[in-house]
Amino acid sequence: MAAAMAAASAGVAAACAISIRGRAGWCWPLWVTPGEYRRVAMPEVPVFDHDAVMAAVSPEEAIERVRDAFVRHAGGGLAILKWVTSFPANRERGLPVVMGVVAVSSADDGRPLALMDTRAVTALRTGAVAAVAAQELAREDARTAGIVGCGLHGRWAARCLAAAEYGPGVCYDADPDAAGALAGELGWEVGTREEALACDVVTCVTPGFEPVVFASDLRPGLHLSMLGADGPGKAEAEIDAVVACKLFCDEWEQASHGGELTPAVEAGRVRREDVTDLGAVLRGTAPGRESDEEITLFDSTGLAIQDLAICHAVLEAHAAGIVKAPAVRL
Ligand SMILES: NC(=O)c1ccc[n+]([C@@H]2O[C@H](COP(=O)([O-])OP(=O)(O)OC[C@H]3O[C@@H](n4cnc5c(N)ncnc54)[C@H](O)[C@@H]3O)[C@@H](O)[C@H]2O)c1
Repeated sequence: MAAAMAAASAGVAAACAISIRGRAGWCWPLWVTPGEYRRVAMPEVPVFDHDAVMAAVSPEEAIERVRDAFVRHAGGGLAILKWVTSFPANRERGLPVVMGVVAVSSADDGRPLALMDTRAVTALRTGAVAAVAAQELAREDARTAGIVGCGLHGRWAARCLAAAEYGPGVCYDADPDAAGALAGELGWEVGTREEALACDVVTCVTPGFEPVVFASDLRPGLHLSMLGADGPGKAEAEIDAVVACKLFCDEWEQASHGGELTPAVEAGRVRREDVTDLGAVLRGTAPGRESDEEITLFDSTGLAIQDLAICHAVLEAHAAGIVKAPAVRL
């Protein structure tokens, strides 16, 4: 099984994980002893399935929330534990490859607040960062959008780019049906890899097992967002292409150890000082694109602050009565 757990607001979530191990699968509230536990009423928590999350947060709102999360780099009163599994063979079983649950708690007192479908939260926050990176790093006159890899997260990147008024676009995928479905949905075109890479803003969201961007594809003014390489051993661009770009990332530690930048870092061809954090550009403390000719590359590895941003939006939509969710008492 390939499984990953991401925790945000580490104090609370990490303490809970230790409790689970120490008490054979049960997590006591941290402010009471086990003997006192029965006197503490656990709250009812809403459960947001895939469609409820999507109904609660539009691509436009996801973009704004994720942008704000990068500026503040904080969780804003929430702590989350993200349980996400990835079973590539599920495609043949007719099941989603990625599944899981986001458990949301109060960062003030640890109260459980909600359970949410991981796929929906991840798709929104991943798609949104592609739009934020394009808005911040692409040329001001950039319009056309190339998508390389039109699976789940490629689709959401394209939807968010369209919501940010990029397009028309070119969709390329090794599976022509995937490219055709996305192009049909957005009124874009199916094209070759080269045609997708000829667009102003190119977003790559393949599994990252083979390069789809080569140094010979680069031309002045291009913006690349690399979303597919989010773990060790993955890369979507050859090293010569990476080092020819002005480099940005969501978070250096992740990007240098399990991101698009990692092979170039390991080869000694990219150093910390060569890479700017997107948050620093958004806060205005570091420059972004400095000329129309520069080629910019953003390495997205996926941050918990993005998930937190979407969780906030879902809870606020629920509180405002925009979306309903069944409740369970834990
Ligand atoms: N950066 C992040 O925050 C983040 C978040 C979620 C997923 N991811 C990563 O994004 C990648 C894609 O995830 P997904 O859930 O969309 O997967 P998916 O399987 O739904 O989609 C991948 C698509 O890429 C296509 N593809 C494969 N090889 C290709 C190639 N050489 N050229 C063109 N198309 C190709 C496949 O046909 C498929 O349609 C994975 O590596 C995943 O781990 C990153």
